[in-house]
Amino acid sequence: MKIAVLGMGYLGVTHAACMASLGHEVLGVDIDDEKLAKLSSGEVPFFEPGLDALTEQMVRAGRLRFSSSYRDAADFADVHFIAVGTPQKRGEFAADVSAIDSVIEELAPMLTRAVVLFGKSTAPVGTAERLRVRAQELAPAGADVELAWNPEFLREGHAIKDTLEPDRLVLGAARDGAGRAIAVAKEVYSSILEKGIPFLTVDLATAELVKISANAFLATKISFINAIAEVCEAAGADVVQLADALGYDQRIGRAFLNAGLGFGGGCLPKDIRAFMARAGELGADQALTFLREVDAINMRRRSQMVELTREVCGSLLGVRVAVLGAAFKPDSDDVRDSPALNVAGQLQLQGAAVNVYDPKATDNCRKIFPTLGYSASVVDACDRADIVLVLTEWQEFRDIEPSELASIVAHKRILDGRNCLDPQQWRASGWLYRGFGRGRSESSNGF
Ligand code: UGA
Repeated sequence: MKIAVLGMGYLGVTHAACMASLGHEVLGVDIDDEKLAKLSSGEVPFFEPGLDALTEQMVRAGRLRFSSSYRDAADFADVHFIAVGTPQKRGEFAADVSAIDSVIEELAPMLTRAVVLFGKSTAPVGTAERLRVRAQELAPAGADVELAWNPEFLREGHAIKDTLEPDRLVLGAARDGAGRAIAVAKEVYSSILEKGIPFLTVDLATAELVKISANAFLATKISFINAIAEVCEAAGADVVQLADALGYDQRIGRAFLNAGLGFGGGCLPKDIRAFMARAGELGADQALTFLREVDAINMRRRSQMVELTREVCGSLLGVRVAVLGAAFKPDSDDVRDSPALNVAGQLQLQGAAVNVYDPKATDNCRKIFPTLGYSASVVDACDRADIVLVLTEWQEFRDIEPSELASIVAHKRILDGRNCLDPQQWRASGWLYRGFGRGRSESSNGF
C-alpha cells in the first residue's frame, strides 16, 4: 500500500520504517529539513536499538523515502498516519494538540480522492471526532476522506518489536465510516494480524481513551510500588522482595513494579496530566483526582534521592557526585522529563560537583543542562567521587565489578536509584550500598 507517515519523531520514524518492512511503500513527512536529510541517508536522529539498521535497509530498498511537502503526501498516499507530538502545554496540564491540528489544516485541502487518515498520536478524548469533521469539511473529496484512530502502545527501547508484534491493535472509527477504515487497517496490518494479534474495533472516543488509560494505569502501578517503597523504608522491609512476591499473583503481575526513581519521559508524566485536564473539561474531574497523588509520589522520588545523597554525605557542598545514567530509561537517549537528569541538576544546583555518564544520552543532556560535568566512561565519572549514584539501569552499570571501581573513587558509597544492583555483592566489597525501599539497616534481610 502507499502510506504517508506525518511527523518524523520517535513514533513516526519507527512506524514508517516498520510499515516499509511489511512491504508497503512509505513516505515520511516532517517540516524539519535537517532531520529529513539525516533520515534520507538512513540515519535516525535519536537512539533506538535496531532502528538505524532497519531505516537504512528500507531506504536502500526504495520502500522508504522522505519529504517536507504535504502536497507529496497527498499525491502519493492512500493511507496517512498522523504521528506528530502532543506535548504538555506550557504552564498548563492540558496537551498541546496544535501539531495535529496543523496537519489536518494543511493536508486535508489537498485530499481529492478517497483516503483514510489514522491518528496515532496520544490526544485528549474528543480530538478525533473534531478532526474527522474538520477533515471532511476541508477536503475536496469530502466524506470520502475517513479519519480513524489507531493508538500506539510502543515503548522506547523496544519500539520495533512493539510495532511489529504488538499485544493488540486498537482501531477507533466513527459508525458511518467504520467499514472502510477497518478494511484499510486490516490490509495495512495484514501480516501482523496473520500472527493472531488481537484486533479490537471500537468507537473514536474509546480508542483515544484506551491509550491514555493504559499510560495512566502504568503510571499508577509505578507510583503504587514507590509509595510502598516509602513504607518499606520506614519499616525496614525490602520492596524488591515484596514486588517479587506480589508479582506471582497473576491478577497483579510483576511488570512495572520496579520501585526506584519513578517514571519520566515524553509520555507518562504529560499523559496523566493531560488526562486530568481533559476529565476536568468534561466535568469528570473527581474521577481522576487520584492521578494527582500518582504524580506527587513520582516527583517526590527525585527529591528523596537528593536528600538521601545529602544524608549519606553529610552535606552536598563541594561533594563530588558521580551520576551514572541520565536517560529516562535504559536503551534510550531520551532525556525528556528524565528523573536521572532532574536529580543530577538538583544536586549541582545545591552545591555538589556532579559528573554525569550515560552511554547514549550525553549529547541530549548537554543541550538541556550545559553546566553539569560530563564524562566519557564510568571510570571517568567515578574518578575521586565521594559518592556514586546509579540513576538509569543500563546493563553496563549492572555489570560493574564493585572491586574494580573501589580504587577509583574517594569513598566507597553507592546509591542505587533503580534497585538494579546486587546489594550483597557491593556490601561484600566494602561499599556502603543504599537502594530505594530496601531497608535502612545494613543487616536487614541478610545483606
Ligand atoms: C510508555 C508506555 O509504556 C508505552 O506503552 C506507550 O506507548 C508510551 O509510553 C507512549 O505513550 O508513547 P515509554 O515512555 O517508552 O512508554 O516508557 P516506559 O517503559 O513506560 O517507562 C516509563 C518510565 O517509567 C521510565 O522512566 C521507567 O524508568 C519508569 N519505570 C518503568 C519505573 O520506574 N518502574 C517500572 O517498573 C517501569
